[in-house]
Amino acid sequence: MDAVRNGNDVAVVRDLGAGFVAASSESPDAGTAKESRSACKRPSRDRLLLEVRDVSLSFGGIRALRGVGFEVARGEIVSIIGPNGAGKTSIANVISALYQPSSGRILFDGKDRTSATPQEVARLGITRTFQNLALFRGLTVADNILVGRHIHMGAGLLASGVFLGKARNEEARHRQFVNEILDLLDLGDYRNQQADTLAYGLQKRVELARALALEPSLLLLDEPMAGMNRDEKKAMVEYIATANADLGISIVLIEHDMGVVMDVSDWVVVLNHGEKICEGRPEDVQNNHAVIEAYLGQETK
Ligand SMILES: Nc1ncnc2c1ncn2[C@@H]1O[C@H](COP(=O)(O)OP(=O)(O)O)[C@@H](O)[C@H]1O
Ligand SMILES: [Mg+2]
Repeated sequence: MDAVRNGNDVAVVRDLGAGFVAASSESPDAGTAKESRSACKRPSRDRLLLEVRDVSLSFGGIRALRGVGFEVARGEIVSIIGPNGAGKTSIANVISALYQPSSGRILFDGKDRTSATPQEVARLGITRTFQNLALFRGLTVADNILVGRHIHMGAGLLASGVFLGKARNEEARHRQFVNEILDLLDLGDYRNQQADTLAYGLQKRVELARALALEPSLLLLDEPMAGMNRDEKKAMVEYIATANADLGISIVLIEHDMGVVMDVSDWVVVLNHGEKICEGRPEDVQNNHAVIEAYLGQETK
């Protein structure tokens, strides 16, 4: 389909090289649109959960992030979009402390966590899913989700494999929690199935379940719908919206599908070549010329 450079016509720009898909009637509509968002201003600073301040990250000569800053308030879904190589995964890696930024700061709940380890960040309630499938092959669906609770487990419970007395009670409580997550994400039928034997869309859902098992306050989702068919995407959007609305989890969503982004996001941050080129409400970002140019530029490469 022809790409149109006129900002007013952005809704017809579909499926460019970067995987950018503008909102259209073909996009999965989970009925989860945040209807009140257009009336909303951004929340006050005391409701901020995550503050990314002026973060830069270099790999040798490659400047993956250049002075990127944005905020996530409690209860929000903030989407990060941008062409391939824009720095989306890098920012997720910095927030989850897999990478230390070259400069800049990460504040969580008002406190500087820039130097925290990945374990400390997980204990603070930040968890994530990865762009590629990252399940424990050979473990059942239930056990994969149970592993997600490691942070809440007493010393040695996972390692021992023998559950006696107090440990048995603790394990039963964790199993109960796992059952609740399985029900919430409609995975109950697969609980005893080996996770890597499931269809791709279901494996991505198990990853989401495992992340939720940590009881996070902030969930980072790195392209959770990549490679999914339309029905799988639609289901995933619903589960993400459920995690946000029913469990009160704030979400940073890295996603290419603008239909999804428009439907679920409170706020959108756009990266290109490691820089934030724009941020705003979804409908404003979608009509922003710099955003359109960024995606069209990608198409010609
Ligand atoms: N571990 C790494 N080593 C070297 N370069 C990297 C590494 N991770 C990312 N990059 C580079 O940083 C830039 C941003 O990558 P990335 O954050 O993965 O982008 P995106 O997720 O938006 O596609 C790219 O140029 C990529 O090649
Ligand atoms: Mg990426």
